Amino acid sequence: MNPLNGIPSTLPKGAPPVRHYLQFADFSTEEYHYLLERAAFIKAKFKTFVRHHTLVDRTLAMIFEKASTRTRVSFEAGMYQMGGSVVHLTTGDSQLGRAEPIEDSAKVISRMTDIVMIRTYEQTKLERFAAHSRVPVINGLTNEFHPCQILADIFTYIEHRGPIAGKTVVWVGDGNNMANTWLQAAASLGFHLRVSTPSGYEVDEKVAVTPRGMGAGSYKTYSNPLEACAGADLVTTDVWTSMGYEAENEARRKAFAAWCVDAQMMAAAKPDALFMHCLPAHRGEEVQADVIDGPQSVVWDEAENRMHVQKALMEYLLLGRQN
Ligand code: CP
Ligand code: NVA
Repeated sequence: MNPLNGIPSTLPKGAPPVRHYLQFADFSTEEYHYLLERAAFIKAKFKTFVRHHTLVDRTLAMIFEKASTRTRVSFEAGMYQMGGSVVHLTTGDSQLGRAEPIEDSAKVISRMTDIVMIRTYEQTKLERFAAHSRVPVINGLTNEFHPCQILADIFTYIEHRGPIAGKTVVWVGDGNNMANTWLQAAASLGFHLRVSTPSGYEVDEKVAVTPRGMGAGSYKTYSNPLEACAGADLVTTDVWTSMGYEAENEARRKAFAAWCVDAQMMAAAKPDALFMHCLPAHRGEEVQADVIDGPQSVVWDEAENRMHVQKALMEYLLLGRQN
């Protein structure tokens, strides 16, 4: 109790535990159904210029230890659109870059803000922050996972083609943070996942699969990406070299040469198959220009939808269900 005003100066005892969003497996299937519906509602309001101020006076802290365009703009614009405000921190312009322990940073930042989004390297760093945070923490990309992106991708698929359950999604390329997250999403939302990676770049189940086994058995592997694409409903890929792995660039260029989504792969998929890429893209490497800029590509909707799903996510973490 603060003797000056009688207001409690610590968190109330018995307050419900804070929920975080650190990987896709953190939410139940039912919660995803709610979030996807809520995101559609929030998007419809945005498109018709109807105010959606459910987070007035709330502050989002965004911490970036890696570069970003979409994640920054979508979280920042989204928070302002909900009536809240944003603090932007990077490794270079904060004490994080001068070795202040992540636990101490979490304790301080979460006393002054209401929700935190972090983009960093190891998932363990995000987990350590969350363990010492008083407020919800969202994964804005780690080496291991990118759950906000997959949430947007699934929303985008449903928007264009209806329910994703029972459909076939193909991952062409690196067994990276995106691929790991697709594995968990397939287990949660009941679609078939095919993964085609070059040898040596496979998904690591020790990383992707949760201790309870979520993600195991939710996918099939293909050594030939063209075979993987046969009859697919969605073909998706990502850069050959993710942030933090730049030293492997040359080796990866050689290893991934055949993992380029081209017109032949899209022709093997269903005629109404969609193409997605989380962006940024390298035309002529993981995807040919006529695919990413072609009629089956929904990459711009996919990028925009980051904002709509993350608005629903922040609202849910702070306020719970709204209907
Ligand atoms: N897709 C994605 O996360 O993009 P940014 O790296 O630009 O945030
Ligand atoms: N796999 C990529 C995604 C970028 C949004 C990376 O981690 O760099």
